[in-house]
Amino acid sequence: MIDLRSDTVTTPTTEMREAMVEAEVGDDVFGEDPTVNNLEQKVASLFGFEAGLFVPSGTMANQLSLNVLTNQGDEVLIDKTGHIFNYESTAAAHLSSVLLKTLEGHRGKLSVELLNDNVRGTHDWDPNTKVISLENTTNKGGGCCYTEDELNEIREFADTNDLKVHLDGARLWNAMTATGTDPQFYSSIADTLSVCFSKGLGAPVGSMVLSSQKNINTARRMRKMWGGGMRQIGLLAAAADHAIEYHYPLLEEDHRRAKELARTIDNCSQLAIDIESVETNILIFDVKEGTAESVIPVLEEEGVRIVPFGPQTLRATFHFQVTDEDLEKVKATFKEQFS
Ligand SMILES: Cc1ncc(COP(=O)(O)O)c(C=O)c1O
Repeated sequence: MIDLRSDTVTTPTTEMREAMVEAEVGDDVFGEDPTVNNLEQKVASLFGFEAGLFVPSGTMANQLSLNVLTNQGDEVLIDKTGHIFNYESTAAAHLSSVLLKTLEGHRGKLSVELLNDNVRGTHDWDPNTKVISLENTTNKGGGCCYTEDELNEIREFADTNDLKVHLDGARLWNAMTATGTDPQFYSSIADTLSVCFSKGLGAPVGSMVLSSQKNINTARRMRKMWGGGMRQIGLLAAAADHAIEYHYPLLEEDHRRAKELARTIDNCSQLAIDIESVETNILIFDVKEGTAESVIPVLEEEGVRIVPFGPQTLRATFHFQVTDEDLEKVKATFKEQFS
């Protein structure tokens, strides 16, 4: 089965498993795991932040970020397709008692024009607008990337309006691959950044929150409170480190394959895709007639898995365990079934 449902379906390679076995470990609740300590320092300096905190999931990284940036009753501005709004089980309400205000961005991206219309006033009855929450690349937005100019403008707007910026960078690795942006840039535009090692990078577990030392100290305390204190996690940090070293450079190939499939889909009379929207490893496309659900068994019968992403919308996602040979098979299947 060629699995294009998500870039999270990868399995650890033999080399990654070997790196995990060889990792030096200690009790991270005592701060004594050398491998995780090294990874936190390495990723923090890569992105130009003071400190980092290894956490089990992207969801926890996002929620810790919002928690350190807000007080109860604050409001967070986010695109309506944002992961934090759609797929984190109302955690922001439960864990931080904040309101998420969703905005109609473009392909998951916010703009200064949009933000400008949505910062509230300062009356007692106004929710206190506090954070702009961005996603890069945008998952539900189809893997789109912000340009540096767009992010600089949003940072400037945030500073002028006394707002903080959180960047959900679960797939920032893909964004950097596509845009060539220097990792250091992101600490100039975000107060908190979350990155994942378990999406296209292929580690089995793990994300990181990056911010100032003060924010990371608070996040570390909250992680413990939320039951996320872990012990010999050098095993997981070693997998993440291996993923950065050996799988990050492979993302370029995923993007090439995604664009190639997009061209095939564009030539299928029963399907519709905006080719320009395919910037990284995610493709979002529509079936012109019938439902997205009805497409799934047709493809599964041919050994290809993707996911429905709306009534007539589907998503296919590339990762390093989909080869060129797999791509040829997928393209042939699409041509055969949907031309
Ligand atoms: C953009 C984005 N942010 C955060 C997450 C959450 O990651 P996790 O599944 O590790 O909680 C995901 C998961 O796919 C995601 O796509």
